[in-house]
Amino acid sequence: MKKQTIRAIQKSKGVEKLSMITAYDSLFAKLFNGNVDLILVGDSLNMSFGGKKDTLSISMDMMIYHTNAVCQGATETFIVCDMPFGTYMNRDEALQNATRVYQETDADSVKIEGGIEKADTVKYLVDNGIAVMGHIGLMPQSSRSEGGYFVKGRDSDSRERVLQDAKAIEKAGAFAIVVEGVTEEVAKEITEAVHIPVIGIGAGKYVDGQVLVWSDMLGFFEDFKPKFVKQYIKGGEIIRTAVKQYSDEVKSGLFPEEANIYN
Ligand code: KIV
Repeated sequence: MKKQTIRAIQKSKGVEKLSMITAYDSLFAKLFNGNVDLILVGDSLNMSFGGKKDTLSISMDMMIYHTNAVCQGATETFIVCDMPFGTYMNRDEALQNATRVYQETDADSVKIEGGIEKADTVKYLVDNGIAVMGHIGLMPQSSRSEGGYFVKGRDSDSRERVLQDAKAIEKAGAFAIVVEGVTEEVAKEITEAVHIPVIGIGAGKYVDGQVLVWSDMLGFFEDFKPKFVKQYIKGGEIIRTAVKQYSDEVKSGLFPEEANIYN
């Protein structure tokens, strides 16, 4: 798969669906490299990698560290770096932190959570030469203030709000939008209403692409499985079985074998 560009991503709308997966380190990024259209260094790494209860406590420095690792592994894939909570509270702070992403990593764009209320910030970044992916609908960075993770668009007010958010972020100049945790009907409406690609997560099939968190889709995160996740392998089970076999073989003397010994 050839490395995507902003123009190619935008032109894919209505032509070919986009695949995006998260990655947090170079090892997995290398495995994903060339097999998906985009890699997102999501702040979900705070939960998936860091074991925290939500995404809110990750810092800009940590995102830069992980984005650099991912860029080392995925040299042929378009990389998006999530802007963490508290790093884009106003447009100057957003520009300062987004500039760090471009200056200190090879990421191709940043991602920002927020709709109408963040449109000015998105425009300011775009006007200053930073490619921005939006993120609307269920926004994990609002989970503490909202008291949990709730599907959006189920009533007419919420539906209208998500639709207006999408339009505002498109108008602000974002090249694509992640739409998370909305009903399939609302996601379809948004996808038809904007001209930029809509990448869904928990947003059904009538969108322009899909994103999943790698540890969910590969079955490494086992605490619970959200409805929208498809588990392609049971990674946790595969690892546990292999590590148990290794441990048993060390104890029984089966490992190391001749092939593993220097003569
Ligand atoms: O942080 C993340 O992994 C994300 C995805 C859920 C879209 O923002």
